[in-house]
Amino acid sequence: MDIDHAKRPVDSLGRDEANAEIERLTDLIRRADLAYHQNDAPFISDAEYDAAKRRLIELEKRFPELKRPDSPTENVGAPPREGFAKVHHRVPMLSLANAFSEKEVYDFDKRIRRFLGIDDATIDYCAEPKIDGLSLSIRYEAGQLVQAATRGDGETGEDVTENARTVCDIPKTLTDAPDILEVRGEVYMSHDDFEALNRAQAEQGGKTFANPRNAAAGSLRQLDPQITASRPLKYFAYAWGELSQPLADTQIGALHRLAQLGFKVNELTRLCHGPRQLLEHYQRIEAARPDLGYDIDGVVYKVNDLGLQRRLGFRSNTPRWAIAHKFPPETVWTWLLKIDIQVGRTGALSPVARLKPVTVGGVVVSNATLHNEDYIKGVDTNGNPIRGGKDIREGDWVKVYRAGDVIPKIADVDLSRRPPEARPFEFPTKCPVCGSDAIREPGDAVRRCTGGMACPAQAMERLKHFVGRDAFDIEGLGAKQVEAFYLLGWVREPADIFTLAARDSAGKKALVGLDEVLTRLQGSADPDEQKRALAEALGLDHFDPDHARERFDERSRTPLARQHGWGERSVQKLFRSIEARRRIPLERMIFSLGIRHVGEVASKLLARHYGSWEAFETAMTRARDGDGPEWEELTNIDGVGEVLARSLVLAFHQDAERAMIDRLVAQLEEIEDAVQPAASDSPVAGKTIVFTGSLEKMTRAEAKARAEALGAKVAGSVSRRTDLVVAGPGAGSKAKKAAELGVEIIDEDAWLTLIGAA
Ligand code: IVH
Repeated sequence: MDIDHAKRPVDSLGRDEANAEIERLTDLIRRADLAYHQNDAPFISDAEYDAAKRRLIELEKRFPELKRPDSPTENVGAPPREGFAKVHHRVPMLSLANAFSEKEVYDFDKRIRRFLGIDDATIDYCAEPKIDGLSLSIRYEAGQLVQAATRGDGETGEDVTENARTVCDIPKTLTDAPDILEVRGEVYMSHDDFEALNRAQAEQGGKTFANPRNAAAGSLRQLDPQITASRPLKYFAYAWGELSQPLADTQIGALHRLAQLGFKVNELTRLCHGPRQLLEHYQRIEAARPDLGYDIDGVVYKVNDLGLQRRLGFRSNTPRWAIAHKFPPETVWTWLLKIDIQVGRTGALSPVARLKPVTVGGVVVSNATLHNEDYIKGVDTNGNPIRGGKDIREGDWVKVYRAGDVIPKIADVDLSRRPPEARPFEFPTKCPVCGSDAIREPGDAVRRCTGGMACPAQAMERLKHFVGRDAFDIEGLGAKQVEAFYLLGWVREPADIFTLAARDSAGKKALVGLDEVLTRLQGSADPDEQKRALAEALGLDHFDPDHARERFDERSRTPLARQHGWGERSVQKLFRSIEARRRIPLERMIFSLGIRHVGEVASKLLARHYGSWEAFETAMTRARDGDGPEWEELTNIDGVGEVLARSLVLAFHQDAERAMIDRLVAQLEEIEDAVQPAASDSPVAGKTIVFTGSLEKMTRAEAKARAEALGAKVAGSVSRRTDLVVAGPGAGSKAKKAAELGVEIIDEDAWLTLIGAA
């Protein structure tokens, strides 16, 4: 193998040489990956491979503008995502809602009793340690392990069957098991094994892991099962997916059964009578935690009776019958060096604390959120003191914590170590990016830039949101590319993405001139920062106007494939993935518009409710804030509140915003109608139902959850669009209105018969 190129030091290479070298190394690493992982026929040694990768990293560091968007250095340590086959989970793998205080545990218990309509009963719960690893679903058919899959996004995971077979705690065959049995549990690594692994990795110059969880995940997700086999992974079973026969009637009974079948079940699992006993057991587990020898991050409480679990059912992503009571997060003290202001997609000015880096819970932290200006001042939104009223200043000694995977936060300030020169932080009243006024609406904790899409920060954040994974998911167009394309005047709004290829082949990519780009950046509180960004997008060392103009025009003319960081293949791939997105599911379309308060869950609800873009768009166009049938219909959707509705209606009635949406729609081939939820063969699927009066066999909440699980929509008030009213004793005005409108009205028993629950 020719590795001559590795001989000249990176420092001695000019820009073009470096580009050629990057291309050669990229190709070499790609071919080596393919040969190793898929064809099982490596053609270079591990040492040569590592050297090539290290050199590529070095080159990319020296010439960041030459880095390719699809660089193989982006997936160091992690095998390529394509490496594992996808597995569709027949029963979704859900996550858990969290509780952080005793009150939240009592509230959880109260919610359950209320939902079931047994306010004065005491519920039995099964309490289990929450193992900090990664969940794995293992499928057995006729007693044989046939498949193991990671959680993935909960619906689709990765097939790691061969790797799972190498884990000692996982039985390969079962006797006396149901014919179909999917066991779910956590793969983890003990502290001792983690340390030994890291020691061995360091000695061999391999990758070390930040914590046992990452080590377990990295070890299970190896394309070579022999590597997994050499890693000491363990497994606790705590749940199940598809089953041909029930395991038991209770959670604890099911765990006993899993233990009998040969699975490891955690010994700290207990049956608890009511929330007080749950909290006692929580304390017992917390006390045992330091000596367990593996990481746990809380205690999971599950309703013990599986019949009740079934009745309680699920919210969109989490079961109603379980909660994870988390341990308080680890905290660490460090210096707050500086407070920066970031401008988000909706114009929110978000203060960020730049910290002297510290390790918190195995992760190096150098930034923390400061929420908003009141938070910095030491008051909450109602003006009440937080942190004993202490404000936060640049130069302060602060206590930092990480709660789960969320952005680190600041819990406290030590005033005794405050430098004498520290001054209260002055929150800007102008947008630091575009210079527009930043205002605070009454009742809003957040100050927002009023620049709209004319603000480069907002425009770029909107574009990043648009191309993101959960929106249009355009491969090859990440945050960095979007930023550069924006600054080069090639893409100013979502619709422009779809015309880029045509402009590229016509030799004129820029939609605006450099002057307009500069004008937009002019008001900026930090013009130097803006010019630096622009110079970087242009591939210049520093910003000088003449040079910039020349480069700006040249880059607009030159085909993308001939520009630094790109090549024929990556450009083709990018344009192909853009073309593919001219068809988009309705819920993604709604989400990608980036309208304030309209997140993924709301987008799904809206898509399901309106069904098609035409119906949605017509309704939004007709809707008037606060009144009229369209407004009523919108706010009647369960899960759509007034704040969300107002923001949505506003977006469709603001001329500039609306024109932008229309331009995007004009570029699309098809906005695919929403897929109605499963169970579409149920007699109530797709129907809009209103419950009124008192129900006797189940609570209103339970009835509503049942109806929704069967694909019905549940509304709060009767309108022309209502299909069915279920009226119990005491039904008043709603039943009357239904009668007037000629909507079908049935009683509770007829309802139960209709859904087959009588
Ligand atoms: S039950 C439908 N039990 O925690 C509920 N999860 O935050 C399924 N976990 O994805 C989960 N220990 O990876 C359950 N004893 C336990 C657990 C546990 C750890 C993990 C699991 C899950 C995550 C949810």
